[in-house]
Amino acid sequence: MKLRRWIVAGAVAVATVAALNVAPATAGRPYDPAAQSLRALAQRHGLYIGTAVDMDALADPADPRYRELAGSEFSTVTAENAMKWESLEPTRGTYNWGPADELVEFARQHGQRVRGHVLVWHNQLPAWLTEGVADGSIDKAELRRILRDHVTAVVRHFKGRIWQWDVVNEAVSDPWDTPSTLHYKGFWAEHLGPGYIADAFRWARAADPKALLFYNDYNIEAFGSGNPADDKTQFVYEMARDLRARGVPIDGVGSQGHLGTQYGNYDTLQVAAALRRFAGLGLATAFTEVDVRSQLTPGVQAGDSAEINPRLQASAANFSTLLRACLAERHCLSFTLWGFTDRHSWVPDWFENPPEGLATAYDEDYRPKRAYQEMKADLIFSGPPFVLPRVPQQPRR
Ligand code: XIL
Repeated sequence: MKLRRWIVAGAVAVATVAALNVAPATAGRPYDPAAQSLRALAQRHGLYIGTAVDMDALADPADPRYRELAGSEFSTVTAENAMKWESLEPTRGTYNWGPADELVEFARQHGQRVRGHVLVWHNQLPAWLTEGVADGSIDKAELRRILRDHVTAVVRHFKGRIWQWDVVNEAVSDPWDTPSTLHYKGFWAEHLGPGYIADAFRWARAADPKALLFYNDYNIEAFGSGNPADDKTQFVYEMARDLRARGVPIDGVGSQGHLGTQYGNYDTLQVAAALRRFAGLGLATAFTEVDVRSQLTPGVQAGDSAEINPRLQASAANFSTLLRACLAERHCLSFTLWGFTDRHSWVPDWFENPPEGLATAYDEDYRPKRAYQEMKADLIFSGPPFVLPRVPQQPRR
């Protein structure tokens, strides 16, 4: 009896190890989860872990560590800039696919999936387009055709090689905009009206039936008042619900996840609840651009540990909040960092007054920070019954 119980227990242990896809001790060396990459640890959850990639850094022979880590720590990549309209079509009618193709090839060589970023956005548009609209040489009907042709050309070019497309990015205003009542903002809404959103999803679907089509935005990590006039998450939720109700082929909502340690931010349960509500619409979710910036006070810049330490710890906690929420929600398919090292981060260039930085998981010398270790710990210590493998999303027709 005793022996039987022992055998059963042993079989259960072996089965558990197999189910978790954890390698047993090999050649006398015990399995050390902390020595695994983020991507290896995420794989056990069926979660893809990603980074935005700066193509100049990737190609820089003087900075080999960037390429090594981009290839080894991540299972999905996003072009930080190379797939934006101004990069792809700087001159009207002449596409420059080179850098974007290089990233897709890098991903293939490293067994990674690609998030396509971005088809329709009001920033980083080529000058010929914005100037043509401003001086009246491109009218509304032509603008709509130009947008249709762009979405079609880009999606077709990468057909079959993009896992998730950010079809429309940042279409919704913020409470600090004028008017403060939330509304569709920016170049496309101003010139075409909000109908461009549904159009873009339909055009993208026509050009690639298999890619997952996402709406992507920031400050939608958690619900607020529940009133779409001032709660951006609610506004986006209702937009997505209406698109689904009208049969528009939207498959997911991407939450960028740009946080800052100076803000109140969120707790894990709030964020998980928001992801679950989007999943309730039949949508996949993803964190698409996670970073956690901090103000670079004179003390921080002078190396004062009393000012640096709390920032690094708050940063780690915020990365962890988003990652745990994603792990807890089975429809959250991927967790992408907006750059992985402070050596190449958009934050110091974009947030200058006051100066901000320290936003990523590795420092400028590629030393992993607490944020990296905490994400790793989250991936190691999460599991059944509350964290279960992902539910794959089927592209909507
Ligand atoms: C940023 C890039 O990181 C910068 O290099 C570029 O100069 C500006 O754009 N939301 C988005 C991203 O969807 O495309 C932005 O990327 C960051 C904010």
